[in-house]
Amino acid sequence: MGLYKSALRPLMFRMDPESAHDLAFKALEKGVVSTKTFESPLLEQELFAVKFANPLGLGAGFDKNARAVPHWHKLGFGSVEVGTVTWHAQPGNPKPRLFRLPEDQGLINRMGFNNDGAEKVASRLWGLKPAIPIGINLGKSKITPLEEAANDYQLSFRALKDFGAYFVVNVSSPNTPGLRSLQERGPLSEIFSAIRSVDYTKPLFVKVAPDLEFTALDEVIDVAKEHRLTGIIATNTTISRGGVSAKAPHRDEAGGLSGRPLCHMSNKVLKHLYRACGQDMILIGVGGIFTGQDLYDKIAFGAHLCQVYTGWIYGGPQMAPRCLEELENLMERNGIKALSDLRGAAA
Ligand SMILES: Cc1cc2nc3c(=O)[nH]c(=O)nc-3n(C[C@H](O)[C@H](O)[C@H](O)COP(=O)(O)O)c2cc1C
Repeated sequence: MGLYKSALRPLMFRMDPESAHDLAFKALEKGVVSTKTFESPLLEQELFAVKFANPLGLGAGFDKNARAVPHWHKLGFGSVEVGTVTWHAQPGNPKPRLFRLPEDQGLINRMGFNNDGAEKVASRLWGLKPAIPIGINLGKSKITPLEEAANDYQLSFRALKDFGAYFVVNVSSPNTPGLRSLQERGPLSEIFSAIRSVDYTKPLFVKVAPDLEFTALDEVIDVAKEHRLTGIIATNTTISRGGVSAKAPHRDEAGGLSGRPLCHMSNKVLKHLYRACGQDMILIGVGGIFTGQDLYDKIAFGAHLCQVYTGWIYGGPQMAPRCLEELENLMERNGIKALSDLRGAAA
């Protein structure tokens, strides 16, 4: 067992989750946390004209304000998605709003897009030359009415468009009232049009909820294709509590569930998307990755790229390189010579 799991994690898990997060973040932001990274030509890819040294990125929500962008590559990630960023700076929901479910290796959060606002985040990214591709995840400000959502996303995109290798329309967080209704055809189409009218060339993704029916997912695919989106991110957190022990103390807290209990649900969505549009769209698989096997499975279910959040909180600084080494071992053992040969093999 590494130092993180044997000594540091027990200490941090004694603190309330958000204070532990803030403490860890301060260290990350100062650049004092790093690890032995794992590099392999087997894990490199060029997708939508962007080079990825490996397929595992840090998911949205950890570096909401792009404060630690110069440091994420030192932890072995192949990319990082900053945000969710909204046009208006906002404090998010009252605390407590983050809960651990250690028996189930899960988290429940209702952060509510606490962030500094698009212009402040843009000023932080200005002039940086990140070592890995940066995705920028955009959401709707809480004070903006749902009918004006498209304009809100457009304003954020306008402020941030020069700083991301790709952009994400997040319409799947359960913690902004009504947000997930923007996954429907009409509002989604309006948001994509508004963003595309500012700049048609930037790689654009939509991030979906794991709670959508397949018919609703098919509608998202249709709209995404109409607006020439680059791809789809599957998935955000779930409002369901499937896979959570009945006696878990925080199971009834409101918010989105992530981590191990989300894995199966998220993979089902990924598989459906791959079957429906895997040849035309880049798919980013996220939800419940803890090991190299989880990573291997997501790629076999159709992911071009993957992301992690909760598994990294549980796994600590060595998590990314450990998973990547395990992934390479699994590929070698199965005679797979490139990620593109693995992709979709089990979809
Ligand atoms: C505390 C927390 C905050 C999150 N914030 C965001 C966010 O701001 N935007 C977003 O698109 N996803 C957010 N997510 C969702 C993650 O990016 C990811 O989609 C989800 O947690 C599933 O992956 P995981 O099981 O590896 O955690 C958040 C997740 C957690 C646990």
